[in-house]
Amino acid sequence: MPSAPPAAPDVVLVVDFGAQYAQLIARRVREARVYSEVVPSTMPVAEMLAKNPKAIILSGGPSSVYAEDAPSVDRALFEAGVPVFGMCYGFQLMATTLGGTVDNTGAREYGRTPLAVSGPGSTLFEGTPVEQSVWMSHGDACSAAPEGFTVTASTDVVPVAAFENDEKKLYGVQYHPEVMHSTHGQQVLEHFLYRGAGIEPNWTPGNIVEEQVAAIRAQVGSKRAICGLSGGVDSAVAAALVQKAIGSQLTCVYVDHGLMRKDETEQVEKDFVAATGAQLRVVDASERFLNALAGVSDPEEKRKIIGREFIRVFEQAQLEILQEEGPEVAFLVQGTLYPDVVESGGGEGTANIKSHHNVGGLPDDIEFELVEPLRQLFKDEVRLVGSELGLPEEIVQRQPFPGPGLGIRIVGEVTKERLDLLREADAIAREELTAAGLDREIWQCPVVLLADVRSVGVQGDGRTYGHPIVLRPVSSEDAMTADWTRMPYDVLAKISTRITNEVADVNRVVLDVTSKPPGTIEWE
Ligand code: XMP
Repeated sequence: MPSAPPAAPDVVLVVDFGAQYAQLIARRVREARVYSEVVPSTMPVAEMLAKNPKAIILSGGPSSVYAEDAPSVDRALFEAGVPVFGMCYGFQLMATTLGGTVDNTGAREYGRTPLAVSGPGSTLFEGTPVEQSVWMSHGDACSAAPEGFTVTASTDVVPVAAFENDEKKLYGVQYHPEVMHSTHGQQVLEHFLYRGAGIEPNWTPGNIVEEQVAAIRAQVGSKRAICGLSGGVDSAVAAALVQKAIGSQLTCVYVDHGLMRKDETEQVEKDFVAATGAQLRVVDASERFLNALAGVSDPEEKRKIIGREFIRVFEQAQLEILQEEGPEVAFLVQGTLYPDVVESGGGEGTANIKSHHNVGGLPDDIEFELVEPLRQLFKDEVRLVGSELGLPEEIVQRQPFPGPGLGIRIVGEVTKERLDLLREADAIAREELTAAGLDREIWQCPVVLLADVRSVGVQGDGRTYGHPIVLRPVSSEDAMTADWTRMPYDVLAKISTRITNEVADVNRVVLDVTSKPPGTIEWE
């Protein structure tokens, strides 16, 4: 008898009014150990309420409430008895919808702003300082709170910078409590969740494990599933979760394209299998990739070739598994994360994808149903789930690494010799960064070989004519923007000395001091 699926967690909905802040708010709510989901502002209130939310947060947004096509909110949302917290644009919408006044005065506030909290007794501000720094980003300003609301904070520019109606459980702040620059933002958010909405903080990403194991079992039944492992965190955690649910019904496939870093294939072969007991097929396709890449220097061309060959090899492996294990292989596991789900419209349920192939002997299309057990999680939460599933730290804390691998870290043609050289240099950099305890501080540190550049050097008694290696340590939150990491000179010096001493044909190490934008993280 299958056991009953675990109860769904209490959910807080974050209504997205088009700001880049909605996802961040959802993350902050989860950091407060309360489960949250982002929904679009176009979702009808009845649909939101059907999700039985314990609270609703209205995010900021780029619009003015006075703009012609500004998104609005149905008054019913405030009358359903569900606690609501409006932030920035959400705050102004709350004010105007409930009869307060928002003026288009031109009184703008952007960036760090001092906030004056007006006296004790506030649910949101209890225990926080009377003067605190908050992050503002608005043009319009609220000059009168709706009836029944108490004004709880103001700034030099805005007379009503926060209000609350404790009886109706409605709260709002003009600023962005979710950004780090709002010094007591997380505390204010937690006050809303715990005190205002009365939610117990008991959710952790680990709760997903039990829930997903039950869901995967129900979805897959007695059929079989395939998972492509890339060596990255997402696919490893997705595979481990599915393995926990359906055990030997899962086969993992790892395509070694020969563009991996030193020891990475072995890590997947040994550590992943040891930790999960998963069945793994490693397909050594390095020669095939090298042949396809021969003579190609253009980065886009390289990416296309690597992508194309990857799909071919992966599909060939799928076909072999189908041939050996029968047509009941019906599921493909993917490590899709929550940001992808939100960015593609927040769709629920699973999609069917068709896997096309051009290898003879089997049906023209194989149709797989997707299993995406990480669809509810942010990257940092995936790492926590990975640890909970017993995956080794080297896999769980792995920094991002591009799918095309070292193929896009060689500027110029990709050859076996160049890959070996870059692998050595990269291994040295990684070793020293780890030894210096910089792995968490640095988002990632591409090590790049400028294969088409040579310069004069002197090593031992002789003149050399070797290649430069570029170190590209970056700090980032999401890889959309990044800054170069101001890492200690002595660590840089050690890496430089070791690379020039230990890697043949390299006589210079240079540091990339460009932020993103204008530079990208990878060189290509
Ligand atoms: P860029 O170079 O665009 O990189 O600043 C941003 C982030 O994306 C990673 N990256 C990739 N990841 N497949 C991936 O899985 C790719 O083709 C790819 N290209 C870049 C890059 O390492 C950085 O983290």
